[in-house]
Amino acid sequence: MQANLEKENAALEAVKLVRQDMTVGLGTGSTAEYAIHAIGRMVREGLRIKAVATSARTAALAAQYAIPLMAINEVEMIDLTIDGADEFTANLTLLKGGGGALLKEKIVAVKSRQVVIIADASKYVERLGKFRLPVEVIPDAANYVLRELTGKGAVRMQEGKPFVTDEGHHIIDVDFGLIADPHRIDTQLNNIVGVVEHGLFIGIASRVIMGVGEEVKIFNG
Ligand code: A5P
Repeated sequence: MQANLEKENAALEAVKLVRQDMTVGLGTGSTAEYAIHAIGRMVREGLRIKAVATSARTAALAAQYAIPLMAINEVEMIDLTIDGADEFTANLTLLKGGGGALLKEKIVAVKSRQVVIIADASKYVERLGKFRLPVEVIPDAANYVLRELTGKGAVRMQEGKPFVTDEGHHIIDVDFGLIADPHRIDTQLNNIVGVVEHGLFIGIASRVIMGVGEEVKIFNG
């Protein structure tokens, strides 16, 4: 499938930035997994790194390759994080959280010197918002947050029950329409009691590497 080739090519380009003795942030999702497989192979061939995982799923995959993992809180600074995105714009604003891992993804990203996003060509948009914005909430606040969002949100469900994040929270996917002003939405969401974090990543990514056909295209913002 074309998208898978684009994801893998973007991942293989990004892992060229991994150097000996780096602390590396490992993202979550199908694109990030291509990078984790590649880094795992590099570790088997002698690469020495420490890594932090942005989700339990990523930690499990890293463990299969014996990639040494540290707790996020134990790491002062992460040299390089490689992660995916659900949407990105040319100025490197991201919409993330489709996989439900946005909280740790954001913590890892803000602790990173370099955040490299890898994506297939379908993730590039002129304006974010076709993909509904994931908002992580304390379960007891979910109905309050839904009310504050005036019908734009819906609790993410899985097998008939609310989806539960690694941290025990719920996700509300919110349809803001196409987002003209991400900063305004960021402020609005941060002011609602019970919202833990949301999937808009503004001013966080350093670079996006996008697979397009057999090529890769780099966005530096
Ligand atoms: C995980 O919570 C997300 O932020 C992912 O980075 C995003 O959903 C991209 O996933 P894919 O690489 O599977 O498209």
